[in-house]
Amino acid sequence: MKFFIDTANLAQIKEANELGILDGVTTNPSLMAREGIAGEAAIQQHYKTICELVEGDISAEVLGTTFDSIVAEGKVLAELHPNIVVKVPMIKDGIKAIKWFTDNGIRTNCTLIFSAGQAILAAKAGATYVSPFIGRIDDSGWDGMQLIQQLSNIFTIQHYKTEILAASIRNVNHIIMAAEMGAHVCTCPLEPILGLLKHPLTDIGLAKFLDDSKKMQ
Ligand code: E4P
Repeated sequence: MKFFIDTANLAQIKEANELGILDGVTTNPSLMAREGIAGEAAIQQHYKTICELVEGDISAEVLGTTFDSIVAEGKVLAELHPNIVVKVPMIKDGIKAIKWFTDNGIRTNCTLIFSAGQAILAAKAGATYVSPFIGRIDDSGWDGMQLIQQLSNIFTIQHYKTEILAASIRNVNHIIMAAEMGAHVCTCPLEPILGLLKHPLTDIGLAKFLDDSKKMQ
């Protein structure tokens, strides 16, 4: 399973990248706004900076909701760097635009996926990635992981090339279960990525080893 970091914060992207396990970055308008990035030029520069920091796919989301505006924006974003993946919302015009991008060699990430039907449509349109939002499904009282399992089965049976990108990750368990259920990619905030490092027995064991090592000196 590939690891993407889900943030537009450069310090966090650098920290995750220094671990040596990062395969890409996802952003969305909320994450960009959180960093105070505003205006077309600043947004484009921020994407370029991220692309220079990380060797891997960088999802850049369009703001338009009509076919023409999504295609126009996506073309500009795709030209910023070869690693840009155009992130398109799961709406009717979004699907039409994903098909257009597919036919024109531009890679896409279909975002805001909450059902298997939506994911099937995006895969049929040729999306490079589909992003089911696990945490938001859980927040609504449903089971986000069930959707990952369902998509994993469908995509295997149907031989779809589209990759399942588990998004809206809230905790370490989400990451482990996404791996267990066959997600191709997991995009996570920095905290759950670092959370994977932790186990109290590791801390206790290391403290004992360090203590005993003093006896060897
Ligand atoms: C990533 O592509 C999504 O935009 C993101 O994971 C959404 O996460 P959230 O539900 O925590 O906002």
